Amino acid sequence: MKLLPADPTGLCFGVRRAIEALEAALAEHGTVYALGSPIHNPQEVARLAGEGLIVVEKAEEVPEGGVAFVRAHGVGPGIVEELRRRSARVVDGTCPFVRRAQERASLLESEGYRVFLVGDRDHPEVQGITARLGGDVRVVGSAEEIGDLSGSGLRAGVLSQTTQRAEVFSDVVAALSLKVSELKVFNTICNATAERQNSVRQLARQVDGIIVIGGKNSANTRKLVEISRSQGAPTLWIEKSEELDWRWLEGKLQIGVAAGASTPDWLIQKLITTLAIPQVAKGEGN
Ligand code: F3S
Repeated sequence: MKLLPADPTGLCFGVRRAIEALEAALAEHGTVYALGSPIHNPQEVARLAGEGLIVVEKAEEVPEGGVAFVRAHGVGPGIVEELRRRSARVVDGTCPFVRRAQERASLLESEGYRVFLVGDRDHPEVQGITARLGGDVRVVGSAEEIGDLSGSGLRAGVLSQTTQRAEVFSDVVAALSLKVSELKVFNTICNATAERQNSVRQLARQVDGIIVIGGKNSANTRKLVEISRSQGAPTLWIEKSEELDWRWLEGKLQIGVAAGASTPDWLIQKLITTLAIPQVAKGEGN
């Protein structure tokens, strides 16, 4: 069996940068309160918890004067304000590409455009962006969700959640352009996402199957799985090498390996090592 890793794959620049900042803060302060899970990967969160990480859901849970970590997804201004009120020391891991999307959304609003954000309204990045805006923002997950804007003579601005699929974004832009009188477009999909999606798209055509490793709670990992399946490649989605289904591998000569942008290097390495010694691993798994 031949293994073909997608290239690039795994941790993106923004998550790597945020986790490095978090690790430095843990080393310096011992205890750090992360607002929401710092990375969409349960195994990595468990490792960081061993170093002193405490995950909280709200800024109100950070003790007065505590150290608070803002993950790569960023947060809205209300949360930053609450942390300030609590005299928290803030370690800001907001990805610069997310920051750019936040700033572009504010710019569109200040220029009087009705803002359309292509993304998942439940995603923390999207919530952090919409929290900056006055309320006249529409989050849409597809072109169909735009609805009827006829006769509105609308000036619209559109941008994207950074991890959105390029096809979905371009569909929404195309549909919007036919429904409004003026459209300003900011493509805020980050390169890391597009590169990882393209590498999976190409790999899917060359192999007998693809193993995607990454958190089941990771939106970007889910999208890699969707793309792989849309290319017709049998696709196995696991969080860790212990979940490998050896029967799924049977008869496949070339296997692609891809990882979400929130999958740490050590989990990918463990998977590749496990696949490289299938007899031993099989024995252990039975
Ligand atoms: Fe940033 Fe892109 Fe990663 S927005 S967090 S580099 S997927």
